[in-house]
Amino acid sequence: MKTEIITVNPDNINPVYIKTAAEKIKDGGLVAFPTETVYGLGADAFNPKAVAKIFEAKKRPLEDPLIVHIAQKEDLYKLAGDIPDIALRLADEFWPGPLTLVFKKSKNIPDIVTAGLDTVAIRIPADKVALAFIKFSDTPIAAPSANLFGRPSPTTAQHVLDDLNEKIDIVIDGGKTLVGIESTILDFTQNPPVILRPGGVSIEKLKKVINEVKIYKQDKILSPGMYSRHYSPKAKVMLVEGNGKIQVEKVKNLASRLNSQGCSLGILVREENKDKYDGFNVKSLGPGDDLTICAANLFSVLRNFDKEGVDIVIAESVKEEGLGLAIMDRLRKAAGA
Ligand code: TXA
Ligand code: MG
Repeated sequence: MKTEIITVNPDNINPVYIKTAAEKIKDGGLVAFPTETVYGLGADAFNPKAVAKIFEAKKRPLEDPLIVHIAQKEDLYKLAGDIPDIALRLADEFWPGPLTLVFKKSKNIPDIVTAGLDTVAIRIPADKVALAFIKFSDTPIAAPSANLFGRPSPTTAQHVLDDLNEKIDIVIDGGKTLVGIESTILDFTQNPPVILRPGGVSIEKLKKVINEVKIYKQDKILSPGMYSRHYSPKAKVMLVEGNGKIQVEKVKNLASRLNSQGCSLGILVREENKDKYDGFNVKSLGPGDDLTICAANLFSVLRNFDKEGVDIVIAESVKEEGLGLAIMDRLRKAAGA
């Protein structure tokens, strides 16, 4: 199958192009589209055959459920039940935006979307192209990130093509995604609600609206998609935690040792440390005190190391506050930790 690339200017959306993509969805096809977090691989959530193609194209295990994307809050009631008031308040505050809410699912959602669970994950993305595409499709869009299963999520249309060219019908190219890491997933089928995946809305921001949230702990498998090795580039990732001189020394020692063993190395660093590893292949994630930039760069930097064919990426940690929690979650998973 040839994958058609439809380029759309987010500031001047040509409805003709979006309609072509929406028609493909109505025909049961697969369309990758930009969201503010990462690119999604969409199909009509009410068409089980179309949704099955998502799993096939991504090589994703069927037990990993998908997020359903809608364009307006009213559509929530067609898809979910038992929606507490506090969830609606969060939706008012953060939708459209990088927050996914999990509720009891309604019967009309095909089982393949939710991997047989009796719950469904829903969000309204904050990207103009995504919203136009969902509206024109006139159906909720089931969409995981548009990468091959286990690979870093795509933040550009080119990343989507690198993984899925000729496996999907259309990719809508709306430029680089703004946030760069996936949505925060908050499960309202538990009381207090549980954060299943840290993401684009920080816990600090959530806590301004909701008093009590729990953070998912690794020992209990709540979110079937929380496999330990995930978001991984082809290179092996080694994460060096800490800060200051000690961290730099640790990275240097590890890099020298691996270098002497003949490994081809990449070092992923905070901007302020980029001149500290003379002679090594260094890429900057962004300033350690601007985690918005670091999040936006994370997946594309990992993919760039892959393009160069490095065997090992040594990554410096970032501070675990705000978006740093989500960044560290992705780095730990990339490292298989
Ligand atoms: O930002 C995002 O969330 C992006 C964009 C495209 O919206 N999507 C995304 O989808 O990251 P995906 O499939 O790569 O990750 C969704 C995660 C998976 O780990 C899955 O297990 C979890 O959401 N999930 C989906 N439905 C669930 C449910 N009913 N209960 C618990 N976890 C669920
Ligand atoms: Mg994913």
